[in-house]
Amino acid sequence: MGFRNIDELCEQLKAKRAEAEAGGGDKAVAKQRAKGKGTARERIDQLLDPGSFVEIDEFVTHRCTNFGLEKSKPLGDGVVTGWGTIDGRKVFVFSQDFTVLGGSLGEKHADKICKVLDMAMDMGCPVIGLNDSGGARIQEAVDALNGYGKIFYRNTLASGVIPQMSVIMGPTAGGAVYSPALTDFIFMVDKTSVMHITGPAVIKAVTGEEVTSEELGGAKTHNEISGNAHFIAQDEAECFEQIRKVLSYLPANNLDDAPLSECTDSVDRADMILRDVVPTNPNKGYDVHDVLSRVLDNGEFTEVQPGWAQNIVTGYGRIGGRPIGIIANQAKVMAGCLDINASDKASRFIRHCDAFNLPIVTFVDVPGYLPGVTQEHNGIIRQGAKMLYAYSEATVPMVTVILRKAYGGAYLAMSSKALGSDIVLAWPQAEIAVMGAEGAANIVFKKEIESSEDPAGTRLEKIEEYREAFATPYVAAERGLVDRVILPEETRKTVYEALVGLDTKRVSRPSRKHGVIPH
Ligand code: HXC
Repeated sequence: MGFRNIDELCEQLKAKRAEAEAGGGDKAVAKQRAKGKGTARERIDQLLDPGSFVEIDEFVTHRCTNFGLEKSKPLGDGVVTGWGTIDGRKVFVFSQDFTVLGGSLGEKHADKICKVLDMAMDMGCPVIGLNDSGGARIQEAVDALNGYGKIFYRNTLASGVIPQMSVIMGPTAGGAVYSPALTDFIFMVDKTSVMHITGPAVIKAVTGEEVTSEELGGAKTHNEISGNAHFIAQDEAECFEQIRKVLSYLPANNLDDAPLSECTDSVDRADMILRDVVPTNPNKGYDVHDVLSRVLDNGEFTEVQPGWAQNIVTGYGRIGGRPIGIIANQAKVMAGCLDINASDKASRFIRHCDAFNLPIVTFVDVPGYLPGVTQEHNGIIRQGAKMLYAYSEATVPMVTVILRKAYGGAYLAMSSKALGSDIVLAWPQAEIAVMGAEGAANIVFKKEIESSEDPAGTRLEKIEEYREAFATPYVAAERGLVDRVILPEETRKTVYEALVGLDTKRVSRPSRKHGVIPH
């Protein structure tokens, strides 16, 4: 009996590897490129540190025998999986290969994704999914559906344990959109990525509405209208940069601290321009980004969901090299009031920061909740409650900076002392009251104004009287609801001091299965 020749066996292995790496072949790859899309492996190489990718399950194939699929058993089954590093930190990754059976998800394809999700959990590392797929592999029927179910289950168990990033780099249809929606963030590439539950043809047949795929579920739609996506990139390269940036703020898992960076920006630098950025006239708008850029290290702010619910700003920054999550009312959009979308956006980001040990710094300038029948009927009560819940539940260090208005229920919702903020700072022009001076004076001094010989003059006098007495930070400071009143130029230094003072915070809550968050 002759033994097999090792060189021949090695050549056979190399040939198999080459077959797997060729994906769906030259024609399918050319079609992919013509759409401005990279291949599954190119994308991984671009995302990860050069040469760091370690692939597993290269030779997995499906075992479907329906509709002629037994004649085509591509190695890898349409998804490339493994791990590598980003900025030297380990991450797990899967990348669907549209050139192989349209990246469609069958039983073994799903098993490969589940394996990296399980490994990411066991190793306590972030997982990044690059989605480019025709959805459930039609020939595999219920095995394909079950595959999605197994992924959803793992996404849910991993939520708040490891960061999960979903990148939409092609079509994502049907229930396939739910895995991304269960993860921390969805990144989309403009013009090449689409997400929807039912496509334009089904919608036309059922409701008669006519809509293009791009209008229905393109990157702009989900970043500006639905709020389903969190980042939009002009091309794949920009998208990978965004992912690397977001991960730089996050710990590998919920038991790790967020990574500290070297700080090249003096923490006690005083920025006098802050005195002019926020007008003392409460009716005047300004861009809160101008505050953030003067307070954060090197003015660097990484905004999350910049295109949706712009009346509230959420994102990451650093102070003294410490990563923080930021929530800020945006005075220049709807006067910074809270509405359904703003509450929804802020709540989710608060919970994300709390899950991953990022201190939350909240910048407040809020006139109240947006009045309106649509708001009431669409659930501002439960969405607003969700925000109260998210702040109250958070146990990370919380610092609040009241820049100007903090009125009524919205004062409470924006990280007030009562909801668990550790340190509340206020600028001298802060107005913490049930409502603005004009509204308050009209109600409290109604009789005096109406019976006066000069109602207009009396009204102005009373507004001023109210403003002097209550529209200040000092009433709240007298009660310890504001811990420190600070000069605007001291903001960076005092927030840094607060972060240092709070960095040993440990709060434990009574054990429970989980709360019932309003939705
Ligand atoms: C099997 C699929 C497939 C699928 C695409 N392909 N989607 N094979 N199952 N779901 C195959 C095509 O037959 C084709 O094979 C190759 O992939 C490339 O597809 P094309 O149609 O040539 O590409 P393109 O023109 O770019 O169109 C892309 C597409 C279209 C818009 C995604 O393929 C499409 O509509 N596919 C079906 C989408 C869908 O209805 N999926 C089910 C969704 S429901 P050949 O051999 O010709 O190259 C769902 C339920 C999940 O996912 C539920 C979870 C709970």
